[in-house]
Amino acid sequence: MTLTGAPADADTTRLLALLAGRADRHSLPGPCYTDSALHEVDLRLIWQRQWVFVGSVAEVPEPGDYVTVDLGSASVLVLRDDDGQVRAFRNVCRHRGARLVDGGSGSVGNIVCAYHRWTYGTDGRLLHAPQLPAGTDLACLGLRTVHLREVGGLLFVCLAADPPGDLDAVAAVVAPYLEPHAIGRTKVAAQIDLVEGGNWKLTMENNRECYHCDGHPELLGSFFPTWGLADDQVPDRLRADHDRYLLAEADLLRRCDLGRLPHTLAEDLVDRPVGFRIQREPLDGAGESFGPSGERLVRRLLGDLTDARLGRLSLHVQPNTWFHAQADHVVTFAVLPVAVDRTLVRTTWLVHEDAVEGVDYDVDALTAVWRATNEQDAEFVALTQAGVADPGYEPGPYSEAEDQVDAFVRWYTHRIEEEVTR
Ligand code: FES
Ligand SMILES: [Fe+2]
Repeated sequence: MTLTGAPADADTTRLLALLAGRADRHSLPGPCYTDSALHEVDLRLIWQRQWVFVGSVAEVPEPGDYVTVDLGSASVLVLRDDDGQVRAFRNVCRHRGARLVDGGSGSVGNIVCAYHRWTYGTDGRLLHAPQLPAGTDLACLGLRTVHLREVGGLLFVCLAADPPGDLDAVAAVVAPYLEPHAIGRTKVAAQIDLVEGGNWKLTMENNRECYHCDGHPELLGSFFPTWGLADDQVPDRLRADHDRYLLAEADLLRRCDLGRLPHTLAEDLVDRPVGFRIQREPLDGAGESFGPSGERLVRRLLGDLTDARLGRLSLHVQPNTWFHAQADHVVTFAVLPVAVDRTLVRTTWLVHEDAVEGVDYDVDALTAVWRATNEQDAEFVALTQAGVADPGYEPGPYSEAEDQVDAFVRWYTHRIEEEVTR
């Protein structure tokens, strides 16, 4: 590709050369996962330019509720204002720059800087700043806003001044799939932060294939191990699973048609900035949810759903998230970079806002499968990080089961190339 615009810095040029040299359908060269300077390029061109998933509306249910998310050195404050609107701001005081809210999540009346007590409303306006010279225009000193969009109850932010323009188009496709799960009428039943010992791209690549699913015995009670394989790619050892999948799929499609639920695959993973994939797919066993044998885990179903056996609605959005929405609960995953070799995976379980803990669901049971699966995935990611940092590592070929890993890497390559020209 021909690059135009300002010349790239030395690190970006080095990254572009590594990406250009990647053999077709092979993993990335080691420095892409291990080099701190290249990680800074990722932070600048991916994390501070693309739409990033930060959580759901259920995480900020009341006015003043907030969550903070760090994207490299940039901290974003996401909060619900007094009028009920969710907003995002730079988490930086307009006086001399102190960090305003010190990480995590919580609730505020106003946002008060701990240093000299400048006080901001939940809408970001500067309300009070002691001893400023007469005539200082407080209206010009409100918190800097960050672009925020809600898609079917899911919250995305973008730090760029001019965010990629295709989120609305993707939202128009995926919102009808999400709508029956009524995320706007859910509450957080549990949230677990897990820091994986690997680069963020390894976390995403690991999630995009089921080639390693034998390492997830708990998940395989409900998740078909043939995920990601076309009919003619299913190996003999998985043929019985695939036969069961086809029967479950026929049943699911019948139920979707009865309930008028969208289910067909829609995907555009590589070419657009908001690369996505959405599909309703069957679950094994009872076909309802992530119980040990596919049973539901919450008695109260989401929204106005009456059929518990709706498999999982799976949504993946580049660069940092995947979701599973069942009839009884939604589980969201936000992947956030901590360091070149450390990545936060934030898993959140959402249930109907009227579901009662201890009556309708048990938190340990609700979270059991994905707690185990996440821990197993963290081990795979850490093993891979150790290997790609080894001088003995050479990029290896993807299997037939790793098409979506390749799609992720191609999406990443395209974005780096395209952002250099902006
Ligand atoms: S830095 Fe925030 S009030 Fe001074
Ligand atoms: Fe996994």
